[in-house]
Amino acid sequence: MIELFEDPREDKKSDRPAPASLVKFRQVSQDAQKGAGEARIKAQKDKGKFTARERISYLLDQDSFFEIRSLMESSCSDFGVKDKHIKGDGVITGFGRINGREVAVYAQDFTQLGGSLGLAHARKIADLMDRALEAKVPVIGLLDSGGARIQEGVDSLNGYGEIFYRNVKASGVIPQISVILGPCAGGAVYSPALTDFIFMVEGISHMFVTGPSVVKAATGEEVDFDTLGGSHPHSEKSGVCQFVAKSEQDCFRQVRELLTFLPQNCYEKAPLESTSDVFDRPVHVLERVCEMDPKKAFRIHHVIWRLADDFGFFEIHQNFAKNVVTGFIRLGGEVVGVVANNPACLGGALDCDASDKAARFIRFLNAFNIPLLTLVDIGGYLPGVQQEHGGIIRHGAKLLYAYSEASIPKVTLVLRKAYGGAYIAMGSKYLRGDFNFAFPSAEIAVMGPRGAVDILYSRDLKAETDEQKKELLKEKLTKEYSDKFASPYQAASNGSIDEIIEPAEARAKIIRAFQVLRNKRNPKENPHKGNIPL
Ligand code: HXC
Repeated sequence: MIELFEDPREDKKSDRPAPASLVKFRQVSQDAQKGAGEARIKAQKDKGKFTARERISYLLDQDSFFEIRSLMESSCSDFGVKDKHIKGDGVITGFGRINGREVAVYAQDFTQLGGSLGLAHARKIADLMDRALEAKVPVIGLLDSGGARIQEGVDSLNGYGEIFYRNVKASGVIPQISVILGPCAGGAVYSPALTDFIFMVEGISHMFVTGPSVVKAATGEEVDFDTLGGSHPHSEKSGVCQFVAKSEQDCFRQVRELLTFLPQNCYEKAPLESTSDVFDRPVHVLERVCEMDPKKAFRIHHVIWRLADDFGFFEIHQNFAKNVVTGFIRLGGEVVGVVANNPACLGGALDCDASDKAARFIRFLNAFNIPLLTLVDIGGYLPGVQQEHGGIIRHGAKLLYAYSEASIPKVTLVLRKAYGGAYIAMGSKYLRGDFNFAFPSAEIAVMGPRGAVDILYSRDLKAETDEQKKELLKEKLTKEYSDKFASPYQAASNGSIDEIIEPAEARAKIIRAFQVLRNKRNPKENPHKGNIPL
């Protein structure tokens, strides 16, 4: 027997030549790190894109990346794929840290076979997701791919199936984030669509089920990549993506910021952050809400900023269905999700898209133990043939479901109008709001005064033939109705509202309410709640 070390504490680099096995390994791993070579990397850069390795290094905390399966290759012998010996098979997988917290990350490498997904590529992603689910850490995918690898036939399609299945298994257990940094075409779009949040970058990200050439062949429509599946249509019209960035760097900054609001998994709470903002800071400016004509529009963001710690609001789905605003704030250091009607857009009315947007966000909050604050200023559901035929009944029902199902702490504040079915939908007591507050300016009723008078007194109004007298009568009846119903007092007297509050005290009262509710739900006993795409 020989001793491996003469001195067991010795830890010096040897002067001896490296053994052959080490030389070989170092060469192999260096080659694997290099990727597809200069020409393809240049082509990637010419498109204004970073390489997959650069992306990982910009996303993660410095030197925190821990790669796995870097040498895995395709075993497909068709079209000579195997003979190319592409180390890593066009995707880099591993773990790293963001703001000191563990995440799993994969980055498709477009310079290798167009980042296309073959069997080994798919297995690497699937294995990473399995590890992430066991380790209970978020998964972030950086996607830049030509889709199913054509040379590997049905194996690549099956690979997508494996990933979709895991996306669903992980849904609501660990946060899943997809960052689109190039093409994402065909059925490949459905993995991001099954995750919680999608980011796109202006000019370089594209998502579509069928590309421009297929669209032209099938329907005759001529459309370019950006118009069909760029960041604008998906952030503004389809609602497929929640975040748009101007550049890749800006995108990674946003992903890192989003993660500060999220727990690592459904068994934890979001991290508390210390704040110098005073818990009971008065917000006198909110008295202006009470001064305002209820029909006047204003951006609800002004209220959210003033309630939040340090005026911070991280908005989600900023460009989609702007009549409802969703996002994260901190209140007394605790992360809170906000759902708010935005009178500046469609009077804050609920339509199909806004219902979907709010419902999915609430379901995300519920899956990940994040309390919910609802700010209400709504005249009702958006009327019209388009909405009815677009399925407002079906979409609106999702919101009722999401509020009723959510067992997280729920605090609701009615600012001005809360009418009809929309009052019930927006976090009312009857869908189990825990604490429901109202400003003195709140109007809580079946409908607005003028509409109500038209219906209740239609016969009296019709009977009056003198137009001037009719108008005076209408005014008198409207005032009577307003005095009785266009206020929060009836709701406060029957318990639909827990307290009418001074606007200046809103921040203090809401924080206090969430403090009381802090132990409402124990995340450790949180049964799995999937975040189905709505
Ligand atoms: C194999 C692919 C590939 C693919 C691209 N490449 N897509 N290889 N399978 N799906 C290769 C190209 O052959 C090329 O290799 C290299 O990647 C770069 O591609 P280019 O075409 O030169 O790049 P660019 O001009 O930027 O165009 C990118 C692109 C285009 C728009 C993504 O490549 C494209 O349209 N690809 C096909 C997209 C597609 O239809 N995929 C299938 C979707 S269906 P060389 O060696 O020549 O440089 C799908 C089903 C999923 O994914 C189903 C899930 C259930």
